[in-house]
Amino acid sequence: MKKIEFFRHGIEEEELQRLREVLESLFITTGETVYEFENDLAGYLDLPHTVAVTSCTAAMQLALLAGGVQPGDEVITTTLTFIGTPNAALMTGATPVLVDVDRGTGNIDPEAVEAAVTEHTKAIMPVHLYGQMCDMDALRAVADRHGLFIVEDAAHSIEAKWNGKAPGHYGEYAAFSFYATKNITSGEGGAITVRDEKQYELLNMLRLHGFNQLAVDRYTSNYEKYDIGMFGWKYNMDSIHAAILIEQLKKIGDYGERRREIFERYTEAFSAMDGIELHTTRPEAEHAYHLLTILVDPARRDAVMNGLQKRGVSVSINFVPIHQMTYYRERFGFEDGMFPVAEEIGARTISLPLYPKLTDEEVEYVIDAVSETVGSV
Ligand SMILES: Cc1ncc(COP(=O)(O)O)c(C=O)c1O
Repeated sequence: MKKIEFFRHGIEEEELQRLREVLESLFITTGETVYEFENDLAGYLDLPHTVAVTSCTAAMQLALLAGGVQPGDEVITTTLTFIGTPNAALMTGATPVLVDVDRGTGNIDPEAVEAAVTEHTKAIMPVHLYGQMCDMDALRAVADRHGLFIVEDAAHSIEAKWNGKAPGHYGEYAAFSFYATKNITSGEGGAITVRDEKQYELLNMLRLHGFNQLAVDRYTSNYEKYDIGMFGWKYNMDSIHAAILIEQLKKIGDYGERRREIFERYTEAFSAMDGIELHTTRPEAEHAYHLLTILVDPARRDAVMNGLQKRGVSVSINFVPIHQMTYYRERFGFEDGMFPVAEEIGARTISLPLYPKLTDEEVEYVIDAVSETVGSV
């Protein structure tokens, strides 16, 4: 039987070569290699600055803090996301306020966001789900009407655009993930985009204990006694991860092309199959093709998942809604039925393998396995 992994990364000779150079150099923590990656990423996104950190969760937490979120504030986000999104709000002492999603795309519903605004709301955290950006015009309008700022969770959407603009152009901040299964990866890692100069300086300090000078800067200039004027975290990216990401970013165009081919082949095949529904795409959105999810009968979803795994096809669920997680139920009193659209998607969804290394033969194997399984369970 074939085994089709859920993801296989593309780290090869170029990354290994760059890693060797870094490992043979003096500075393996934050330094020139990290700055180089930050500049490359900012250039790719057409934004002035990025700040490299250890995860997207850390990126979101720091962006919320930089924007002024404090304990007791509310941050509105979607219930159909990874746990890191609402947890980033919790880590600031704020309360994550969950809302429902749009049935077609699975993205946060701007009208639900508007309805959830209270006098305590400080920020909105939209999640660009599966690779498709949220309706950023509608969300920007809600934020501006109520004096809120936006942190875009772009963990799935580094290549995505809304009306031709990348994440970070509509929101004050956007957060990216370089976790092991993301479109470009270094195992773990994250980055924040920021347009405001003062905020950029603040984020640099927040990521490293409030230091306004990194070890490399202290080394290259004369050592001076330092002081700490503010509280910060220990989330700075090191040069080892940055070395991998510099090379990964160079491949993003080729990766995207192959992802698009596979996504389109899947879409063509599954659109013609009974018992399968696909998410819709908006004309304003350029897709990052991060996840291909199919929606099946909720009563048979788990049987379909097991059938696929028996045929060697690895699958995932993106996502079980946050309000259905025990911790969130117990802490915030969430109940089933509160966000019916997200619940329906969460009960019907299955994510299939989608990555550049997948061969045409493997793609056809997945399609056949889905066809057989959906037709027989
Ligand atoms: C939508 C979304 N947001 C946030 C994250 C968190 O990313 P990280 O693991 O880099 O903190 C993920 C990670 O898988 C994700 O899928």
